[in-house]
Amino acid sequence: MQKIYIKDLSQHVGQEVTLSGWLFNKRSGGKIKFLVLRDGSGYLQCVYFKGNVSEDVFNLADRIGQESSIEVTGKVKVEPRAPGGFELDAVNLHLISEAHDYPITPKDHGIEFLMDNRHLWLRSSKQVAIMKIRHRIVKAIRDFFDERGFTLMDPPILTPAVCEGTSTLFETEYFDLGKAYLTQSGQLYAEAGAMALGKVYTFGPTFRAEKSKTRRHLTEFWMVEPEVAFNDLNADMDLAEEFLEYIVQTILKEKQEELKVLERDTSILEKVVRPFPRISYDQAVEILKKNGVDFQYGNDLGATDETIISNQYDRPVMVHRYPTAVKAFYMKRDPENPDLALAVDVLAPEGCGEIIGGSQREDNYELLLERIKEHNLPQEAFEWYLDLRRFGSVPHAGFGLGLERTVGWICGLDHVRETIPFPRMIYRNTP
Ligand code: 4AD
Ligand code: MG
Repeated sequence: MQKIYIKDLSQHVGQEVTLSGWLFNKRSGGKIKFLVLRDGSGYLQCVYFKGNVSEDVFNLADRIGQESSIEVTGKVKVEPRAPGGFELDAVNLHLISEAHDYPITPKDHGIEFLMDNRHLWLRSSKQVAIMKIRHRIVKAIRDFFDERGFTLMDPPILTPAVCEGTSTLFETEYFDLGKAYLTQSGQLYAEAGAMALGKVYTFGPTFRAEKSKTRRHLTEFWMVEPEVAFNDLNADMDLAEEFLEYIVQTILKEKQEELKVLERDTSILEKVVRPFPRISYDQAVEILKKNGVDFQYGNDLGATDETIISNQYDRPVMVHRYPTAVKAFYMKRDPENPDLALAVDVLAPEGCGEIIGGSQREDNYELLLERIKEHNLPQEAFEWYLDLRRFGSVPHAGFGLGLERTVGWICGLDHVRETIPFPRMIYRNTP
């Protein structure tokens, strides 16, 4: 027999079907029990009338606790008032595994308790909605690049050298070869890929031993990084803008139900259409000054600075040309002012902060070598990367989008810990 899922019940109206899943919650009247079944695809209210089922079944329906695994049998009815629009006129109940005292109940639990029970918390309706949206965002990301002629290229996770600055490396012993580091970014490898394939993207987990305990920081997060040969900073910003619009509009179109579960105000997301405002770092500093911030020119933007800047706009804002001194070694300097890097950060609305960081890369061999030395990086470890400038170097650019920050923004969550199944943070590596 083919297994039937709740999401497909519209094809079974009037039929007697058997479905399996877990007891999500339960209400009772004297002669009637309402069991809500969840099966991962949806929720279904199953109605057990005392007169319609055996006494054993009625007693079982009365006895079993939340999250017991069960099989229900009954006739599918259209019921516009029920969640999902259907109801089951139940005739049978089969117990697979009985549960009692499930720790997560409809009452309020503190966040630490929920995080300790993340393996169970994932079953809650809000968490299920977030995971489904995350999954759809991942698919939108892949579709976007695949449809535009990019090749997916998987970079290594164990790497011999730094990419984003030495302060946030996780290190491990690597046999007789000394230390290896968990990758902070696939970018340097993506650049090699762009020289081979023209347009590539990497997509995978990245690691930062960030000491930051904020609502935006994980120590393990997923990043997608496109890299395009012959793109300059403007083309990089065009790509970032088109990409974000595509992701947000796809989720709006296809994940309305989940956004409703999350009570997301979608009118804000509807405004995420091109063109996005583009301002320079200098203009951003002006905005901060006008808003009474005592900002030191030359510093990187902090989280509150980013919020003040993004609050000026109704869609993501792209801030470009940051001071070279606060940005990574591989960024090309602005030919019109070498104190500025051809960098861009995209700041999401609603105080979500930076979701994309990108740049045009230094493509000149001598200048790149100079930067490697200035940053006190070991030249031997970067010889292969310098080869990309020795043999047929071309202008190129790319960016990295943080998946969890993007999920958090689109879902309207105030912390990234709910955007990934099992978050890794400075004070948490369990469950
Ligand atoms: O700005 P970042 O550090 O850029 C890079 O790693 C470049 N190599 C990307 C590139 O040009 N190919 O990181 C990119 C994005 C950030 O904008 C943010 O969304 C996310 O990665 N990110 C984090 N997300 C969660 N937790 C952290 N600790 C993060 N650090 C960065
Ligand atoms: Mg950044």
